Amino acid sequence: MISATKKAHIRPVHPFPARMAPSIVWDALPKTGKSVNILDPMSGSGTTLVCARSLGHRAIGCDTDPLALLISRAWGVDDKPETLKIRAGLVLERARILSKSLTYEKSYPRNTDSETIRFIDFWFDRANRRELSAIATCISKVRSQNERTILWCAFSRMIITKTSGVSLAMDVSHSRPHKVYDVAPVKPFDAFLNAVSRVVNNLPFSGNVYNVAPADIRHGDARSLPVESASVDMVITSPPYLNAIDYLRGHKLSLVWMGHSISEIRALRSGNIGTEVSKGSTSNEAIHKAMKAMADIELLDKRRLGMVKRYVYDMSKVMEECARVLKRKGCAVFVIGDSSVGDVFIKNSEALIRLADNNGLSLVSRNTRPIERKRRYLPPPEYKSAGVKMQGRMREEVILEFRTD
Ligand SMILES: C[S@@+](CC[C@H](N)C(=O)[O-])C[C@H]1O[C@@H](n2cnc3c(N)ncnc32)[C@H](O)[C@@H]1O
Repeated sequence: MISATKKAHIRPVHPFPARMAPSIVWDALPKTGKSVNILDPMSGSGTTLVCARSLGHRAIGCDTDPLALLISRAWGVDDKPETLKIRAGLVLERARILSKSLTYEKSYPRNTDSETIRFIDFWFDRANRRELSAIATCISKVRSQNERTILWCAFSRMIITKTSGVSLAMDVSHSRPHKVYDVAPVKPFDAFLNAVSRVVNNLPFSGNVYNVAPADIRHGDARSLPVESASVDMVITSPPYLNAIDYLRGHKLSLVWMGHSISEIRALRSGNIGTEVSKGSTSNEAIHKAMKAMADIELLDKRRLGMVKRYVYDMSKVMEECARVLKRKGCAVFVIGDSSVGDVFIKNSEALIRLADNNGLSLVSRNTRPIERKRRYLPPPEYKSAGVKMQGRMREEVILEFRTD
């Protein structure tokens, strides 16, 4: 087991917008010493999975975003730091040699289409393109899956930054990239080993000293989970808020180098919560009730009303799936804040309470806590028009605990 001091210092391996506070997960997890099955159906960077595993539980995570899956898998790698650093050094050495023979015309990921090339040209200067392309090629040739995962995570860390990274953008880590540089402030060959160290030094399971099985991390949609019915003891998750973060907007700057095309990422995005209508078995009346609990829907125009409806449909499907996979007397913890659509205040948590009830999950407790400044999401531009009261309420998150019968 991981010691109490170590638990208090769980450090992320990669930036992730709207990461869940580990303390919420610690408080929620069973500490009886008995290992149980913990699921996060929208696991993001993997906070639930790391905390659950470190308490000896079997952790299962699903997400649709390939970068989220990569980060959460990297966080759980238990190889020795020295081995990972040696591999990184060899990769960099080979990349330096390879780059000498790479022309700028060839400095793209393999088999890239023209749309993805235009995207890369927009966000990366050509000198950095050449270095990134050489490192990416050498990472993809590494045989060990764990080593490749760590090296890709470090590669991505050089791109997904707040200010100075290897792209021409700022604010990529908040998923709000905007182009500010003509030449990127950081060179990949200079930054790579440092990025590797920052990943490797934060690996909680390094050396597998605790002998706890790795989390089972699956590519999967929370609205149709690839998880057996009645197999999970506890769900702990923080779903996306309505209209809050388009995770893939920033993540695509890294994903294109890992072989994902822009059209493929666009298709993935349409599967994210709140972006596509997914009809569940929930009746229209229940959907309407949840929508009314969530917002003053009369104030919304047709387009925005459609967004709210899509979100509620999606979350109703998520609740239905959580209820299906939970065992009897199971528990589900949802952490969510409020958001806005235009200047209409959206109480995401109220919708979740209605939808849970509709799926046989009874509310046991509802607590609020302030969201630390660095974990707050950056709301859309129209948020400026939101009043002071509304802004204050958006600085809180709600922790909802439900139980099955
Ligand atoms: C608030 S984040 C979760 C953060 C996570 N708790 C952490 O600590 O890093 C929400 C996550 O939901 C994921 N997501 C959105 N739509 C999804 C879907 N249909 N199925 C599974 N995951 C989805 C996003 O990719 C994102 O990683």
